[in-house]
Amino acid sequence: MNLSAETQAIGLLGHPVAQSLSPQMQNAAIATYGLPYVYLAFDVQPHLLAQAVMGLRGLGFRGANVTVPFKVEIAEFLDGLSEEASLCGAVNTIVNENGRLIGYNTDGEGFLKALESVFDWQPQGQHVLLLGAGGAARAIGAALLQAGVEELFIYNRTPERAIGLASLLGRMGHGRTRAVERPGEAIPYVQLLVNATSVGMDPKTDAIPLNPELLDGKLLVADLVYQPQQTRLLREAQRRGCRTMGGLHLLLHQGALSFERWMHRPAPLEEMERALHSAISNG
Ligand code: ATR
Repeated sequence: MNLSAETQAIGLLGHPVAQSLSPQMQNAAIATYGLPYVYLAFDVQPHLLAQAVMGLRGLGFRGANVTVPFKVEIAEFLDGLSEEASLCGAVNTIVNENGRLIGYNTDGEGFLKALESVFDWQPQGQHVLLLGAGGAARAIGAALLQAGVEELFIYNRTPERAIGLASLLGRMGHGRTRAVERPGEAIPYVQLLVNATSVGMDPKTDAIPLNPELLDGKLLVADLVYQPQQTRLLREAQRRGCRTMGGLHLLLHQGALSFERWMHRPAPLEEMERALHSAISNG
């Protein structure tokens, strides 16, 4: 990497950020083209978020990624939001557009790209069961419906949140949405199951978000969790003949879309994927 007085910065704002794989992935993409940028992670104390955003502005950052716990509250410090960021109420990417900081969200579109590349899956007319009702579920659910999913079932540990999300997404006016009290009510009707809860994430790797006996071999199963790469949900699904996709694919594709927003050129997917895998095996 060639650092010089011309180098412009891109940041990751989160708390904590030490486990993030984005710096390796984005710097590999930058290096592929020899671009004059550097991507750095910043562990921002929550009470200093406003100052951190002022810092991006004052120092002329090209942009930033935003991660937990700031994806929602960052919006109030920005100068504008894209349609998908307002729709899902969360920002994961900031682009400095001539001094104006605009918030985007590449999670939903990144997830659709991941489904297409791994399963060759097209959303039109499909029926999907989404597990979870937090920020991640909201972004994924909105993207699935906008892309043409016919029916979205939502199951969540706290049923009121599933009902709330189903009604919010239903008001978008695309496909049908329905909160279910048990995952089993929806399984017979769906082709794709998506885990958008944090269940199964390191260190509680033995946890699983639904009874594995419900996993029918005809299902495609996607997990947003990527630490570990092979969650218990994915292992149980594979044992029953399901095709599966781990959360690293979403990480890759949302990162690729962020890169394209900053650089206005195609993301080098292979190099980014290689950097992710080597970061994991060295971590
Ligand atoms: P994110 O923005 O990553 O989606 P979140 O808003 O905290 O994070 O949402 C976490 C999701 O994981 C929620 O759907 C949560 O269920 P609740 O709404 O009932 O809290 C789900 N979740 C977290 N831990 C869980 C557990 N042990 N069992 C079942 N669901 C869990």
